[in-house]
Amino acid sequence: MRLVAAALFALGAVSAASSQVPPDTATRPITFVADVAPIFHKHCISCHRAGEMAPMSLVTYAESRPWAKAIRNQVVERRMPPWFADPAIGHFANDIRLSDRDVDVIARWVGEGAPRGDGPEPTPPENNDGWRIGKPDLVLKLQQPFDVPARGIVEYQYFQIPTNLTEDRWVQAIEIRPTDRRTVHHLRVFARPPGPDVPRAAISPDRSLCPEEVCGDLEPPLAGFGPNIASIGVGTLPDVFPLGTAKRLKAGSVISLHVHYVTTGTSVTDQTEIGFVFAKSPPAIELKTISLAQEKFVIPPKTASHAVVGTVHFQVDAALWTLGPHSHLRGKSWRFDLIDPEGQQRPLLAVPQFDFNWQTHYVFDSPIPVKAGSRLQATAVFDNSPANQDNPDPDAAVRWGNQTTDEMMFASVTYSVKSP
Ligand code: HEC
Repeated sequence: MRLVAAALFALGAVSAASSQVPPDTATRPITFVADVAPIFHKHCISCHRAGEMAPMSLVTYAESRPWAKAIRNQVVERRMPPWFADPAIGHFANDIRLSDRDVDVIARWVGEGAPRGDGPEPTPPENNDGWRIGKPDLVLKLQQPFDVPARGIVEYQYFQIPTNLTEDRWVQAIEIRPTDRRTVHHLRVFARPPGPDVPRAAISPDRSLCPEEVCGDLEPPLAGFGPNIASIGVGTLPDVFPLGTAKRLKAGSVISLHVHYVTTGTSVTDQTEIGFVFAKSPPAIELKTISLAQEKFVIPPKTASHAVVGTVHFQVDAALWTLGPHSHLRGKSWRFDLIDPEGQQRPLLAVPQFDFNWQTHYVFDSPIPVKAGSRLQATAVFDNSPANQDNPDPDAAVRWGNQTTDEMMFASVTYSVKSP
């Protein structure tokens, strides 16, 4: 109990310190201990911590000091923390941008020589053995390690892991931890209800999985996969669902994983782990995730802006909770609009400069109500010109495909159906 209280106290101190400028900073030097560490602990170390996706840790002064100039550049130019939604459209619960005040404090600290300051450094928030979602109630691991070679192209891999759950559970948070994050381009987790196994060839995981009565024009659910409960791309953070909402994991479910490994020049043995935090009681609202995809497109060679549109029709009243746009190296921008049955269009999310390295899930601050008969329309724009520095081949006509050199127009959409 004593430890818990201490940890809570430390967290409280952190948020209080970073929420307003202490009145004396104009006259005294800005220091790591008093001013900067609380900002890093709140906004940076979820990624900049040993074992996480960023290249260096920013937990302590000794670790941060060598990076001071790079840190100033990154935060002043708003490249860190990474966030790509147009701030003029929508409000998001996981918006990790720094306030102007925090940017100013960091820039002044670096300008003044990045001093440490006296006294002990603030304690970082608890690490839970590296699980960002807190201590998981259930951890599932690939049953056999998978060897990712140093070079070449790896076909999609499919794995199954039995949950052995004897009753339904409600997933409050879920975290996917590959052994080496850099080898996983994306990974999708499905929960197949108990039943006979389905031959691999019958499974096409990129199809939409929305019940027909909810989303009129999508493919019906496939026998082999079951609901999508989580996915990560490059740079995606774990899903923590708001209290009172959760995803159902049926008793006896078998987790099926669909993994796109990429080679990094070094061979890696992967044994991905998936951690689940379960809700203590059944939630008021059940969340489900569907895929919005448009597979029929050809992006002409040397074209700087080619738009591809995909739509989901809602047949029932619903609410939207998150949007996760996904395209590859030619992805240039995304936007999502909700068009109600009267034709009124409401912009929900715009990502004016899509970056393949950041496959962010955008979690709405409060869920977006959807009237039956509305359309969710997504527009992805692709840049297949030589001016796109990431473009692997501007002379190619580019179609839907699994490899990073192909393209995808794909978004995960988390929704709930309002109870009547
Ligand atoms: C969502 C994860 C995430 C968060 C949050 C985050 N970073 Fe990063 N950061 C990364 C990754 C991954 C890289 C390396 C790839 C890149 O540069 O895009 C990086 C790179 C950097 C670099 C460049 C390092 C170099 O090689 O020059 C700096 C500096 C940096 N981050 C500072 C920060 C600071 C300061 C914060 C908080 C205010 C922050 N980052 C928050 C993930 C994150």
